[in-house]
Amino acid sequence: MNIKDTVVVITGGAQGLGAAMAERLGSQGAKLALIDINENSLKSAESKHLEQNHIAKGFVANIADENSVANVFEQIVKHFGRIDALINNAGITRDSLLIKIKDGKVVKTMGLQEWQQVINVNLTGVFLCGREAAQYMALQQSGVIINISSISKNGNVGQTNYTAAKAGVAAMTTTWAKELARYNVRAAAIAPGFIATEMTQAIKPEMLEKIKAGIPLRRMGQPDEIAKTVQFIIENDYISGKTIEVDGALTL
Ligand code: CAA
Repeated sequence: MNIKDTVVVITGGAQGLGAAMAERLGSQGAKLALIDINENSLKSAESKHLEQNHIAKGFVANIADENSVANVFEQIVKHFGRIDALINNAGITRDSLLIKIKDGKVVKTMGLQEWQQVINVNLTGVFLCGREAAQYMALQQSGVIINISSISKNGNVGQTNYTAAKAGVAAMTTTWAKELARYNVRAAAIAPGFIATEMTQAIKPEMLEKIKAGIPLRRMGQPDEIAKTVQFIIENDYISGKTIEVDGALTL
């Protein structure tokens, strides 16, 4: 699939990895539909793209809400006429140890709310957006869905909720690739390692240093290194069903 004139939907497209993807694809002539829950960052992202003569429009939606997702995809198709690529990128963390014991006492556990919030956005959100986009793509007989999983899918201390969601995302990707191939729709995933974004900046500095020391390439990844992988998947029509790990040789 060529990038130019391709209608690309990016969830969480106003910041972090999503913004890097939008920048790379927008500069190559993709038509960008940016979904975000934060209206202010969406507005500023949209005007930044317009200043650079990118074709871009922001759409406010909560990807964890079924009606909100159905409405936003309808609006996108009304505006752009079709959907060629969906990048399921939006995600949150609510890190906590499963149980924390100090001096022989349980001092904290991961709360049900911390579990549920992450599952709602990172797993249910991907399901809802993927299901919606797949319908338009299947009827067009063309499209690609790229799900952003994480190297945390292999298990990571402090991320019971996030790892469960990201492993689910990788598995769901393979299922979609198998189910949707008959409609000429591909599905692939990327599992980023630790990338320099707002999300990793939120990790305690001493913990981040420990994590960085364990990365064989001795540095965090750059957002554009994930965006380049998105471009690779869009352009290579034989990639489907796989999760590409982009993590500086980190094995969790
Ligand atoms: N690797 C090894 N040990 C770890 C660890 C890790 N990633 N995270 C925590 N631990 C250990 C700590 O070293 C500590 O060990 P000791 O008791 O021996 O000192 C123990 O677990 C408890 O840790 P804290 O004292 O930090 O406990 P806390 O309750 O204050 O905080 C936490 C817990 C929020 C999980 C915090 O440790 C933390 O932020 N860890 C990092 C979690 C992480 O990797 N998040 C990734 C976010 S970025 C992302 O998710 C993007 C992506 O896709 C990869």
